[in-house]
Amino acid sequence: MEELKRAVAREALKFIEDDTVISLGTGSTTAYFIEYLGKLIMEEELEDVYGVPTSHQSRLLAIENGIPVVSLDEVDAIDIAVDGADEVDPSLNLIKGRGAALTMEKIIEYRAGTFLVLVDESKLVERLGQRMPVPIEVIPAAWRAIAEEVEVFNAEAELRMAAKKDGPVVTDNGNFILDVRFHRIDDPLDLEIELNNIPGVVENGIFADIADVVLVGTKDGVKRLER
Ligand code: 5RP
Repeated sequence: MEELKRAVAREALKFIEDDTVISLGTGSTTAYFIEYLGKLIMEEELEDVYGVPTSHQSRLLAIENGIPVVSLDEVDAIDIAVDGADEVDPSLNLIKGRGAALTMEKIIEYRAGTFLVLVDESKLVERLGQRMPVPIEVIPAAWRAIAEEVEVFNAEAELRMAAKKDGPVVTDNGNFILDVRFHRIDDPLDLEIELNNIPGVVENGIFADIADVVLVGTKDGVKRLER
């Protein structure tokens, strides 16, 4: 599995040119991409490349690997965003947010000229929600009310708990995450909009209609899916 992640991360470098602002996604697959990108910059094979991190994780990795870091409000445009995903359906709709960085990821990836997604073949599903819950970032004081409200969508919500801290996961923005299991998602775009209409929801992990290219690591090589 790690070799498939490395292979898509290497393939993603082919999309990167000089004079580019790149959004740096979050997660284990993008971490390889950041490592390889840093190497090209350090070896001066790429020039005038700047990274816009989507999380504390990608910011720390970018600095560690020698990538010049800028924030969203310092750039006029994002040329390309590179990030992983937890599920990809046949229309290239995504579920993201296992790393709890979905809000900044969506803010930035929505604005990118090209949004390039890196996954291994285990992430491909026929229907979103098949394996993974949809993460929803919520204002802490509203978590319980929102957990009850999502039940009208035929779903169950669970507050995400931290692994190396007592209590819930706190996002980079100081909020909580609800992991919501839907019995069936028929229209990802419609659900994405409806969830964001609930007061107290900051953002949700359905990324409908925004991925341009998905690179899929398979045992037979890297496959390219396009919308
Ligand atoms: C973080 C994300 C990640 O991109 C997603 O969870 C995939 O991660 P990985 O490449 O480690 O499987 O959405 O919020």
